[in-house]
Amino acid sequence: MSNWKTPAVLSSEITPQEVYLRRREFMRISAWAALGATLPGSLFAGEKLSGVVRTPYQLSDPLTPLEDITHYNNYYEFGTDKESPGKTAGSLKTRPWTVAVEGEVHKPKVWDIETLLKLAPLEERVYRLRCVEAWSMVIPWVGFPLAELIKRAEPTGNAKFVEFTTLNDPQQMPGVGSPVLDWPYREGLRLDEAMHPLTLLAVGLYGEVLPNQNGAPIRLVVPWKYGFKSAKSIVRIRLLEQMPQTSWMKAGPSEYGFYSNVNPEVDHPRWSQAKERRIGDFFKRPTLLFNGYAPQVAQLYAGMDLQKFF
Ligand code: MTE
Repeated sequence: MSNWKTPAVLSSEITPQEVYLRRREFMRISAWAALGATLPGSLFAGEKLSGVVRTPYQLSDPLTPLEDITHYNNYYEFGTDKESPGKTAGSLKTRPWTVAVEGEVHKPKVWDIETLLKLAPLEERVYRLRCVEAWSMVIPWVGFPLAELIKRAEPTGNAKFVEFTTLNDPQQMPGVGSPVLDWPYREGLRLDEAMHPLTLLAVGLYGEVLPNQNGAPIRLVVPWKYGFKSAKSIVRIRLLEQMPQTSWMKAGPSEYGFYSNVNPEVDHPRWSQAKERRIGDFFKRPTLLFNGYAPQVAQLYAGMDLQKFF
């Protein structure tokens, strides 16, 4: 992977120590207060993840500040405006938590989140996130390849697609009372996309446990696709023979296709996708095909008409 640069330090090591400690303390207190109980061995939002390894999946783009990553969110279960998830997702209980892996697999299993955290070495990977709304961020995720989980399930010969289902709990999520989407939030990938080494299950960012508003305790990150493919707070991963219908395809079939690869040449019917605004920048920048990951992923779509399969 020629365009990756190995950094000298992890992002967590370059965040000012004082900011780190204050934020960690605040988040720990809030999480404990929300839970009202002690769960031995559990990690809460803002706690430092240990054993995170440096990998070649880095970028030279400046990182988006943590404040923006955690206060400009799309998480419709907590409201449709960007500020709501940061204010209200604190109510999400991330423990106990399980993820069921099922469907066209020889070894279905319900995984406890603590076991998942130890499934594979946790890596820091800096990826661009390009939202369909034409803004973008650069985020130092912590996670492990989705392929690590899928291969343990041993897909059958029929498995062609992967469906992700996220939590749908009206008690905790005020937004699911609104008909804006067909809940639970569902997304999907082709099996080869899901097995691609760039496809990540993220459990943290900036070296710490994932904040609730960013999809705690576990979310998908597919950096060459529009951000909405990156389902948050996943509870089920199902391998399928047929292409699943996703929440966004159901909401607007002419606006959101199954593939949703970042493509400056395929406009959203209501706006252009040619440019994007990096959060924090004044001027827009050109959007790159596959969000700049074409050298790694273009071969997945060889021979496909990307105007038709958008
Ligand atoms: N996952 C769930 N469950 N609910 C959502 O509303 N929004 C998606 C995606 N995952 C969403 C979701 C969209 S539109 C985007 S752009 C990204 O999450 C935003 O991730 P971020 O808020 O962590 O930047």
